[in-house]
Amino acid sequence: MNIEDIREMIAKGVDKNMLLKKMDDIDESLKDIMKGSERIDSIVQNLKLFSRFDYSNVRKNDIKRIISEAIRVSQYRAKDKDLFELISRSGEFNVKVNHDEMLQVFVNIFLNSIQSIEKKKEMLEGSFFQGRIQVEIEIFDKEICIKVEDNGAGMDKIMASKVFDPFFTTKGNDGTGLGMNIVYNIIAKYSGRIKVETELDSFFRTIINLPIA
Ligand SMILES: Nc1ncnc2c1ncn2[C@@H]1O[C@H](COP(=O)(O)OP(=O)(O)OP(=O)(O)O)[C@@H](O)[C@H]1O
Ligand SMILES: [Mg+2]
Repeated sequence: MNIEDIREMIAKGVDKNMLLKKMDDIDESLKDIMKGSERIDSIVQNLKLFSRFDYSNVRKNDIKRIISEAIRVSQYRAKDKDLFELISRSGEFNVKVNHDEMLQVFVNIFLNSIQSIEKKKEMLEGSFFQGRIQVEIEIFDKEICIKVEDNGAGMDKIMASKVFDPFFTTKGNDGTGLGMNIVYNIIAKYSGRIKVETELDSFFRTIINLPIA
């Protein structure tokens, strides 16, 4: 259906209601195209960030400060402003990293948690549910260990094995599936380790270990 078809229909004296219905169809198709192009935008944006791996700005950073910053940034996206709890002893937790990349790591993880908590709320259809994202920072030996755990929708174990794969998403058009892949690559770049533990409908936990600077 294009403009010529519409002209022809008008010329033929076609039924007005039918024409309106056709216009609606076109409107729907346009919306799909817009959504598709937004998705492409978001993929390109992610890939750009990813390819902009910055080796020059790698210096000693307090990961606790970066995590607090990521919490502030992510909180804007959450309806409930009381989701986060940060647990750690006082003092610095220094790692040798690029600040912006590490910020991206935690924003990606936190946004997933926020989205998962929203999903669980929808599943529970309005019955009371207090979402929670707990972040714990500890030191073990020569490593800093960061655990992020949410009580959102979780994943089944087989799906969870794909969580770091590029373009793996369960969010249809709303996700690019690059978030956790980028997280994985940034952690690997700094000789860290990352794994996830999860149970469907119950929790999702990400555990990151990074060498102390
Ligand atoms: N905290 C979480 N709870 C439940 N499932 C999660 C969580 N984090 C990630 N996932 C699952 O892993 C998939 C991949 O996550 P990833 O961040 O890579 O992509 P995305 O969130 O789908 O898309 P994008 O990050 O581009 O918005 C998600 O689609 C979701 O199914
Ligand atoms: Mg994501």
